[in-house]
Amino acid sequence: MAGCAAPSAAPAPEAGLVEAVETVEPPWHARGCGDCHAAQRDAWLRSAHARAWTGALFQAEWGPRHDPFCVPCHAPRATDPDEDPEAAARGVSCEACHLVDSVVRATAVSGEAPHPSRADATLRTVAACEGCHQVDFPHAPGVGLQDTVREWRAAGEIGGACQTCHMPDGDHAFPGGHDPAMLASALDVVVQAEREGLDTVVRFTLRATGAGHAVPTGDIFRRLVVRAWREGDEARALERELGRHMGHPLWREVRDDRVPAPGGGERVVELRLLGRDRPVRWTIAMASGSSHDPRRLEGVTHTPRPVASGVAQVDERPTPLR
Ligand code: HEC
Ligand code: HEC
Ligand code: HEC
Ligand code: HEC
Ligand code: HEC
Repeated sequence: MAGCAAPSAAPAPEAGLVEAVETVEPPWHARGCGDCHAAQRDAWLRSAHARAWTGALFQAEWGPRHDPFCVPCHAPRATDPDEDPEAAARGVSCEACHLVDSVVRATAVSGEAPHPSRADATLRTVAACEGCHQVDFPHAPGVGLQDTVREWRAAGEIGGACQTCHMPDGDHAFPGGHDPAMLASALDVVVQAEREGLDTVVRFTLRATGAGHAVPTGDIFRRLVVRAWREGDEARALERELGRHMGHPLWREVRDDRVPAPGGGERVVELRLLGRDRPVRWTIAMASGSSHDPRRLEGVTHTPRPVASGVAQVDERPTPLR
C-alpha cells in the first residue's frame, strides 16, 4: 500500500482511509490501520479485544445457540456473523473504538494523518469502554451482566479512568485478567495458619488494593480459586471459589463473595485442613468459563492463571484441644 513505509508521503486524505478500511486480510482487519500504526497493531494482536470473536472460550459458549445478543460487543463490525464471518473475526478492532462515520476519532489531531480525524476527549474517559463493559441482563434490569463500570463508580471512580490501568502509556494490549503482572498486582493477600484442635485453620484476608473494581469483575463466570494444603499432602487440598454465584434463572444472583472493590472492605476465607504438624502451601488463581456445564467447554483449555502463592508456617501458639 502506498504511503505505508513512509507515512509522511501519504496519499490524499480520503484515499488513505478508504484504502485502510478496505485492505482486509482476514482474520485481522487491523492490517489496514496497522500497516501504518504498527505499534498499536502489534500490541492489539495480543489483546483480548483481538480474540473477542475467534477466542476458543467465546466460541464454545456462543456455539450452541448462536445468540445474536452477543454480537454487538464481541463482533461489533458484523451484523450477522453467520453471513459475514470475516467481519466477525475482526473482534473489537481498531474501528470499533476509533471510527465514527468513517472519521478517525483521536485524543488529539496532529494534522499529519492521511485520513480524516477528529479530536474527541471522551476517548480517554470511561465513555469509550462503558458501552460494552457495563450491561444489565436483558430480563433483569438493574442486575449487571457486566457490572464493571458500576463497581468502579460505586468505589468513587477509584484509580481514574479505566485507561489509566488498562492502557498504560497507550498500550493497546489492554492488559487485564490474562496478564500475569496485572493479576499479581491486584490483591493484597495475608495468609495465617493456626492450630485449632487437631486441625490447621488457614485464614486468607484479601483486599483488592490494585484494582478499580471487584476482583474478579467482568464475565459472570470468572472466579478466584483459593486453595490450600498441608505440605506433602496436595491430594487432600481444599479449595473455595470466589465469584458471583448465579442460580435459576441465570440472572438471579445467589451470592457474591468476590473481593470487593477498593474501599469496600476485605474478603476473609477460611479453610480447615486435617492435621496440624506441617506448613501450609497455598495458591490463588483466576479461572474463566462456566463451571456449571463443563460439556459446553469440552476441548477448551482454561487453566486457572496464577495470582499469588506461598507457604505459611503454622502458628505455634497452642490452642486447646476440644
Ligand atoms: C496510510 C497510513 C495510515 C493508515 C492506513 C492509517 N493511518 Fe492513522 N495516521 C497516520 C499518520 C501518518 C498519522 C499522523 C500521526 C502519526 O504519525 O502517528 C496518523 C494519525 C492517527 C491518529 C491520531 C490522530 C491524528 O490525526 O494525528 C489516530 C487515532 C489514527 N491515526 C488511527 C488510525 C486508524 C484507526 C486507522 C484505520 C482505520 C488508521 N489510523 C489508518 C497514518 C495512517
Ligand atoms: C454488552 C456487551 C457484551 C455482551 C452482549 C456479551 N459480552 Fe461477553 N464480554 C463482554 C466484555 C466487556 C467482556 C470482558 C470481560 C471479561 O473478560 O471478563 C466479555 C467477556 C466474555 C468472555 C470471556 C470471559 C473470560 O473469562 O475470559 C466470554 C467467553 C464471553 N464474554 C461470552 C459471551 C457470550 C456467549 C455472550 C452472548 C450470550 C456475550 N459474551 C455477550 C461484553 C459482552
Ligand atoms: C478498545 C478501544 C480501542 C481499540 C480496539 C483500539 N484503540 Fe487506539 N486508542 C484507544 C484509546 C482509549 C486511545 C487513547 C489512549 C491514551 O492516550 O491514553 C487510543 C490511542 C490510539 C492512537 C494514538 C493517538 C491518540 O488518539 O491518542 C493511535 C494511533 C491508535 N490508538 C491506533 C489504533 C489502532 C491502529 C488500533 C487497531 C490495531 C487501535 N487503536 C485499537 C482505544 C482503542
Ligand atoms: C465494542 C465493545 C468493547 C469496547 C468499546 C471495549 N471493550 Fe474491552 N472487551 C470487550 C470484549 C468483548 C472483551 C472480552 C474478549 C474475550 O475475552 O472474549 C474485552 C476485554 C477487555 C479487557 C481484557 C480482560 C482480560 O481478562 O484480558 C480489558 C482490560 C478491557 N476489555 C478494557 C477495555 C477498556 C479500558 C476499554 C475502553 C477504552 C474497552 N475495553 C472498550 C469489548 C469491548
Ligand atoms: C486502579 C487500576 C484499575 C482501574 C482504574 C480499572 N481496573 Fe480493571 N483491572 C485492574 C486489575 C489489577 C485487574 C486484574 C485483576 C482481575 O483480573 O480482576 C483488572 C481486571 C479487569 C478486567 C478483567 C476481568 C477480571 O476480573 O479478570 C476487566 C474486563 C477490567 N479490569 C475492566 C475495567 C474497566 C472497564 C475499568 C473502568 C471502569 C477498569 N477495569 C478500571 C485494575 C484496574
